Amino acid sequence: MNYQQLAEKAVEAKKLSRPSYSGFHVGAALLTEADKIYLGGNIESSSYSLTICAERTAIFKAISEGETKFKAIAIASDAENYISPCGACRQIISDLCGEIDIICLNSKSEYKIFKTSELLPFAFGEKDLNK
Ligand code: THU
Repeated sequence: MNYQQLAEKAVEAKKLSRPSYSGFHVGAALLTEADKIYLGGNIESSSYSLTICAERTAIFKAISEGETKFKAIAIASDAENYISPCGACRQIISDLCGEIDIICLNSKSEYKIFKTSELLPFAFGEKDLNK
């Protein structure tokens, strides 16, 4: 599975989205170390703040199936500009996926690749909790 193929899966994952209020379709494809892919779409609620982004849908699906090690996540939308994961998703990627490649697509399916720490520098994390 190369990143071009993973990007295509993210485009495909837009079909799984339910953006009932914003109409903004987002798809995410999460690649595990073992080359398994989990797809997710954004799912919106009439109580808007309960909405979940495509990235977190894919990540929570994978984690709840027992996955722990990841290589990359690709994210697609219909916007012309490269999609940029929201702050909440950056925190979740940092906490649950670690330092992976984040592949951000534009509507032409071109992509830019960032590392987790580039999108969330000086991140809060488990190391900061007093246990
Ligand atoms: N959204 C995502 O699913 N991922 C992103 O990276 C950015 C935003 C969703 C949340 C909401 O359903 C819609 O896009 C508009 O904000």
